[in-house]
Parts: sequence; C-alpha cells; structure tokens
Amino acid sequence: MNIDGYTQLLGLLGNPVKHTLSPVIHNSLSEILNINEVYVPFCVDRNDLQSVVKGAYGLGILGLNVTVPYKNDVISYLVDVDEAALQIGAVNTLVKVEGGYKGYNTDMLGLYREIINEGIDLNGEQVIVIGAGGASKAVVYMCAKYGAKKVYLLNRTIEKAIDISENINSHFCKDIVTPMEIDDYNLIPKNKYLVFQTTSCGLHPNVDSSPIENVDFYNYVHTAVDIIYRPEETKFMRLSKSAGAKVYNGLKMLLYQGVIAYELWNNVSIDEDTCETILCQMIGVIKNNDR
Ligand code: ATR
Repeated sequence: MNIDGYTQLLGLLGNPVKHTLSPVIHNSLSEILNINEVYVPFCVDRNDLQSVVKGAYGLGILGLNVTVPYKNDVISYLVDVDEAALQIGAVNTLVKVEGGYKGYNTDMLGLYREIINEGIDLNGEQVIVIGAGGASKAVVYMCAKYGAKKVYLLNRTIEKAIDISENINSHFCKDIVTPMEIDDYNLIPKNKYLVFQTTSCGLHPNVDSSPIENVDFYNYVHTAVDIIYRPEETKFMRLSKSAGAKVYNGLKMLLYQGVIAYELWNNVSIDEDTCETILCQMIGVIKNNDR
C-alpha cells in the first residue's frame, strides 16, 4: 500500500467496529483493482454522528459504510436517500455527492446478488422469513420487490411482524406479506418454501440454538438462507439440510454488500473471479480470528 497525495479515504461508521470484516473486503479490492484508496473503521459516539457525517464530507471522504446501531439514525444527516433504502428504513452505504452523502442499502442488494448467483429465482416464489428485526425488513422488501408471490413473516413478537407486513403491503399495494407468530408455522399451507433466517438466534457463541427447534418445521424448507455467517453452519442450516434442503450462510451477503458499495463509490463493475478471491480472504480472516 502506497499512501500519497492522491490516496482517497473510505470508512465504516459504527459502534462497535473492532470485529468488522469490511476492511478486508475493501482494502483487498483496492489492491486487486490497483485503486489508490484506504478503508478504515471509525468507532463513533451516537452524539457525534451528525458532525461525523458533516466532517467526513469536509474531509472529502469518498464513501462510508454504516453499521449497527446507526443504519436508521444516519438517514437524517444525508442529502439524498435511495428509494429502497428509505422504504427499508436502513442505510449501510454512503456515497459522496454534491453537498453531502446519498444513502443506499446494499445489504438488500447484496443478498439479492447472492441468491441470483446461486440460481434462486424469487419471481412467483413462496417464501418464509423468520424474524422481524432490522435485517428482516431488507429481506422482506427484497422478496416483494423481486416478485415473490407470498411471504409468511414469522416472529416471536407478532407486533413487529405486523408492522413490517403493513408497511410492505401498503408500499407495493398488494397483500404479499402475512405476519404470524413463530409457533404458528403449522398454519402455513403445506408446501416447500424458500426460507430466510434473519434473527440473531444461532449466532456465535450460541451455536446450539435455532429460532424454530421443532424438526417438523423443516419439512417446509426446500432452500434455507441464514444471514448469520459465524458459525459457518448454523443449527438452522443443519436442521434444514437434514430435511433435504439446500443451505446457504450469510457470508456471501456480506461479501456482495461490500462489493456493491465499492462499485457505487468507484463506478466500477467487479467480476465474479475477484469476488471469489475476496471471499477466500474473508474466510481466512474468520478462521484466524477463531483460533
Ligand atoms: P437485527 O437488526 O440484526 O435484525 P434486531 O432488530 O435486534 O436485530 O432483531 C432481532 C430479531 O431476532 C427479532 O425478530 C427477534 O425477535 P423478537 O422481535 O421477538 O425479539 C429475533 N430473535 C432474537 N432471538 C431470538 C430467539 N431466541 N428466538 C426467536 N427469535 C429471536
């Protein structure tokens, strides 16, 4: 890495940020593509968020990622927000434009790129989404936007599932999403579904839990996508696999959200071979951290 007068800065705003894999993604991309940029994580206090965004623009920072807990709060400090990100209510990527930053949600776009690459077609598909937190909103929005016929949204706390359902159904002017209590999954018509697991249940170190423990549920699953990537195989994925489903973890979603952010910042298009190289580096770092 040669830092000189032409080096541009990229970064991550969040709290905490110490365990992020984003520097691996972006600094590796800059190296491979020979682009003179450096990506650095910034741990930001909530009270400073507005001045940080203003200061970043003043410093000419080309692009920023935003992570927990600021994906929603940051929206107030942007000069423009992409329609999908606004609807989802979460921004994870800021792109420098005239007068400030424009916000995007590349989490949603990254997941979509992953499932397209895996040959999963959402159009006309029947989907089950487990969880109704921040990540769920992006997944449900993606399903509705890309043509899913039906989404059953399961959550422990039904009110949150109702909120997301009302929001998405009214935005798309269609009755696509049906909110349900998680334990009522047996009321879903018997069929095989594409299932997204969006809760934090099963995340390291609680690797022996799944939001639905009853093995009967997994007869509903033909394809299981867990947005968790640590552990590499969650209990939800294991139970789905035992029932004969194809399974995917969240690492490629993480990869592609970063790749798409980098494409937005630099107006480039990143090919699949480069994405594979970055993925291997991410896996290497995770294995190293687990040691
Ligand atoms: P994120 O922004 O990462 O989606 P979040 O907003 O805290 O995180 O949402 C966490 C989601 O995981 C919620 O849907 C939560 O269910 P509740 O709304 O009922 O709290 C769900 N969740 C967390 N732990 C769970 C568990 N053990 N079983 C089932 N759902 C769980």
